[in-house]
Formats: sequence, structure tokens, C-alpha cells
Amino acid sequence: MNQPQPVALITGASRGLGLEIARLFARRKMPLVLTARGAEALQAAVDELRELTDVIGLPGDVSDGAHAERVVRLGRERFGRIDVLVNNASSIGPSPMPALEAYPLDALAEVFRINVVAPLHLTQLVVPSMRARGGGMIVNVTSDAAVQAYPTWGGYGASKAALEHLSRVLAAELEGSGIRIYVVDPGDMNTQMHREAEPGVDLSHLPGPKIAAPAFVHLLVHETAQFGRFEAQKLVPATSGERS
Ligand SMILES: NC(=O)c1ccc[n+]([C@@H]2O[C@H](COP(=O)([O-])OP(=O)(O)OC[C@H]3O[C@@H](n4cnc5c(N)ncnc54)[C@H](OP(=O)(O)O)[C@@H]3O)[C@@H](O)[C@H]2O)c1
Repeated sequence: MNQPQPVALITGASRGLGLEIARLFARRKMPLVLTARGAEALQAAVDELRELTDVIGLPGDVSDGAHAERVVRLGRERFGRIDVLVNNASSIGPSPMPALEAYPLDALAEVFRINVVAPLHLTQLVVPSMRARGGGMIVNVTSDAAVQAYPTWGGYGASKAALEHLSRVLAAELEGSGIRIYVVDPGDMNTQMHREAEPGVDLSHLPGPKIAAPAFVHLLVHETAQFGRFEAQKLVPATSGERS
């Protein structure tokens, strides 16, 4: 019997890395639930991917708890479940980024709300049904700024460090549930977020998000092979064509 493809919820899927991950998942015919704040760009992503797979988009801010609940509910209503959560949406904070000694605290709290609290909230919303089904995968997108002490990257970097530690603890708490928690650092990319982090700096030498996105397919296909639910999905092989 054909197993259905896993259903993925990807935040920040209207551009950059999130859109590239969505494109690769769509090529695998995975049903997709996408969100980002800008409705127009999100709709453009949905229209593009609709050619490849079943996809819905709901515009909104992941740090708005009611929006997070709506997105998860919409995914369940449309597809019956969410198997994969990619917490990709993120805020760099004020641009240019302030040094910590002058960092506006309300802006810092906002960075943590988007980069730490929202991923945990979405995790809390999807884990119970993943637990009930005996499997699932949650990927939290991090950065080397979580471990390197780059001047002015402290607000963003501290939020990513928190996200990483939260992921470690979640993994320990969910051991035996079949739910796997990953953190992925995609490396430097020439995206809007990075351009906001370094305004006026020429980033054209950096790769685009197409280089890092296949790692997320790799995780899905290879790393989750141990637990039954996704074993069937492994039957759809990754191809080098996905790197184009
Ligand atoms: N670029 C790099 O060099 C780099 C390096 C290491 C790690 N990362 C990580 O990679 C991930 C993707 O970043 P990117 O470079 O691809 O950025 P990007 O091109 O600016 O894309 C960010 C995406 O997130 C959405 N978003 C931002 N804030 C949101 C919010 N509060 N609620 C919902 N959606 C929101 C954006 O759409 P809207 O603005 O319309 O909401 C957009 O779709 C992030 O987690 C980032 O920290 C990036």
C-alpha cells in the first residue's frame, strides 16, 4: 500500500531558505503548510508550488500565538496531520544591529519572541499528535552566531543559542517518542535577512539558499529512516537533480 508523503509545516516560507526548502519538499510531493507575514510573497510561493504539490499558505506572524494555532489547525483540517515542522522564520532584530550595551530591550524581547518562543509554541502545538502517531520531525534553523561572539550579533546570536539549547532539552525529553529534533545551521547566505544584518555590505560572494536547502531533504530521507513512519518515505530517493 502506498504510504502518504509526510506533511510539512514550514515557517518563513515566502523567500530565502524557507522557500527553497518548500520547493524541494514540493518536488517530493509532500503536502505543505506555509506561513510568513507578507501575504503577497506567500501567495506567490503557494501559486508556484501548487504546480507540484498540495499546498496551503496562511499569512501571519509566528510570534502571534493565535496565528500559530490557526496555522496548525489549518494544516490538520486540510491534511489530517503535521509530520514535519521546520522552524525557519527568524528575526535579525534592529538593522543595523546594535551592540548589547545599547540594545533596546523591547527589540531584544521581540527577537526572542520570534526566534525562541514561537518555535517552542509551534513545537508544543504539533508534538501531542506526533507522539500519538509515534513519530515526527522538528527542525530548528540556527546560526553560527549562536556559538561565535560576533560584535553586534549578540541579540540574534543569544536567541539562536537559546533555540539550540531548547532543542537539546526537547530531544532529551522526547527520547523514545519517535519524534526527532534537529538544529541546522545553513551557513552564510545572501538573503534579505543577511542584507539587513549587514546593510551596505556587498554579499554577492555568498551562496544563495539553494546550496543549504538539500540538507533538509537529507535529514528527512536519511536521518529519520530509523523510525517506522518515515521508512516508507525513504522509498522516494533523493536525486542530484534536487540541487539545481
Ligand atoms: N542568511 C544567512 O546568512 C543565515 C545564516 C545562518 C542562519 N540563517 C537562518 O536561516 C533562516 C532563514 O533565513 P533567510 O536568510 O532565508 O531569511 P529571509 O530570506 O529574510 O527569509 C525570512 C523568512 O521568514 C519570514 N519571517 C520573518 N519573520 C517572521 C515572523 N515573525 N513570522 C512569520 N514569518 C516571518 C519572512 O517573511 P516575512 O518577512 O514576510 O514575514 C521570510 O519568509 C533563519 O532562521 C535565519 O536565522 C540565515
